[in-house]
Amino acid sequence: MTFNSQGKQALPHDVSVQWTPLTELDLDAVVAIDKQCYSHPWSVGNFKDAFKAGNLAQGLKVGEQWVGYYVAMQVLDEVHLLNITVAPSFQRQGWARCLMQSLSLWSQTHQATTLWLEVRESNARALKLYHAFGFEQVGLRKDYYPSGRNSRETAVVMRMALNSTQ
Ligand SMILES: CC(C)(COP(=O)(O)OP(=O)(O)OC[C@H]1O[C@@H](n2cnc3c(N)ncnc32)[C@H](O)[C@@H]1OP(=O)(O)O)[C@@H](O)C(=O)NCCC(=O)NCCS
Repeated sequence: MTFNSQGKQALPHDVSVQWTPLTELDLDAVVAIDKQCYSHPWSVGNFKDAFKAGNLAQGLKVGEQWVGYYVAMQVLDEVHLLNITVAPSFQRQGWARCLMQSLSLWSQTHQATTLWLEVRESNARALKLYHAFGFEQVGLRKDYYPSGRNSRETAVVMRMALNSTQ
């Protein structure tokens, strides 16, 4: 892998960058990335349930490589972000901001007024991303996530108002 002077992966000029809805055919690749990125990754079943529920599941690819993906659920005028992941070799290059921007635009064009999410309180990278993107902390859910063998972790609940004029 080669990097340019800004530390971003140097991609060939002719490589395509494309959004693609996630399907069951993508699950092996996506579950493998989830496993690399989380202490408690989503299983194949979790992704299948999300598809069955009709949730938005978008992937982003560079050529044949998966950059990342997000899964979100719309309920009336609210959209809940359920999963956002950037593959390790693409992290710290601005791709998560790109995924968040895509989710925000999709939500606005689907009459949503608010984005919601939960994040582990120990996940400093994600908290920084969300704060920088415009989310505010609105509460805590104690013991929300599985953690160690007999322990649970608090979730930070965050919300962002969407600009309905866009
Ligand atoms: C959190 C995650 C999605 C960020 O993806 P990314 O593509 O690396 O993020 P970006 O390069 O777009 O960075 C956007 C901002 O996020 C924050 N950020 C991202 N990685 C960071 C790191 N390692 N340390 C500190 N801040 C970080 C910064 O504010 C950054 O802005 P900056 O580069 O101007 O400082 C990625 O690290 C990931 O997939 N982690 C594992 C899965 C996960 O935790 N998902 C969130 C679940 S709630």
